[in-house]
Amino acid sequence: MTTHTRTPAPTARTPYTLARNTAESTRLNLQHTIYVQNAGYLLHPSLAPTLPPQARIAEIGTGTGIWLRALALQSAPQNPAWTYTGFDISAAQSPPPVPNNNPCHFALLDILAPVPAHLIARFDLIHLRLLICGLTGPDWALAASNHEFDHRARLLPSPPTLSTPTEATTQLIALAITGQTREHKFLANVPALPHTLRAAGFTAVTHETFPSDRHGGAAMRAKCTDVMVGATSMLAEYAVGKYPDLGVTGEEFAALVARARGEVEGGKAFYRWDMHVVTGRKALLS
Ligand SMILES: C[S@@+](CC[C@H](N)C(=O)[O-])C[C@H]1O[C@@H](n2cnc3c(N)ncnc32)[C@H](O)[C@@H]1O
Repeated sequence: MTTHTRTPAPTARTPYTLARNTAESTRLNLQHTIYVQNAGYLLHPSLAPTLPPQARIAEIGTGTGIWLRALALQSAPQNPAWTYTGFDISAAQSPPPVPNNNPCHFALLDILAPVPAHLIARFDLIHLRLLICGLTGPDWALAASNHEFDHRARLLPSPPTLSTPTEATTQLIALAITGQTREHKFLANVPALPHTLRAAGFTAVTHETFPSDRHGGAAMRAKCTDVMVGATSMLAEYAVGKYPDLGVTGEEFAALVARARGEVEGGKAFYRWDMHVVTGRKALLS
């Protein structure tokens, strides 16, 4: 029987603050390699041995499905009967359907909506990653609560901290964070995840943190910077477009982005952040 607490009330929806175009899909796929290289695994090593031979694995907020497809490829030799379902609120970045016996299936699902009856108690493992631009503060508790059908869940959310010493890059990051905060998307939700999961009835919660340049040296830092220049520019553009009181005109913003790019290309600034991996277990509904 599940032991989760009362489901929190849904909050007003705020828009997704990243793009869903080809450039963003490319950025997500590059970002995937950064997370996996620094973590050292696709699937947390404590989870794989607990999965049954016919494990049904899901990912919510799958985006391009890069994590799911990579796991399917890696696991095929040892676990040929595992199946994989990638859910997202939008199909805009879904990979094209593959006609052969590809084990990955993609479908629409809103993590904040009540779980459809046919998905209840359906999955052995659910993975979420980098949903910080999709979920507002209270949404995290709601998402964890909705997971009554979870047996296990793993969350690997986006960066809680960014560090850089230079003028334009610092300003760009500040604008990005201001926009996110005004949309009630708080970086502090990430380190709070273990608490959020426990409050939603998850047990055996683990939490591991490591820097975005734990492995790979200068090349990794360059890759991280590339990915984050893209993300912060996108989020800052959203902020200045939506909130005129921030007082940044289109021209000023373009100049700011150019200066920020100059800073990183000149080696004056780089991006580095803490990555968090949180795992937890939840009993299936009886
Ligand atoms: C930054 S992308 C991360 C994609 C993928 N998890 C990864 O790590 O590459 C966030 C994804 O979450 C999806 N998303 C946002 N809100 C969602 C919701 N309420 N339910 C399901 N997916 C959502 C977005 O459409 C987007 O594809």
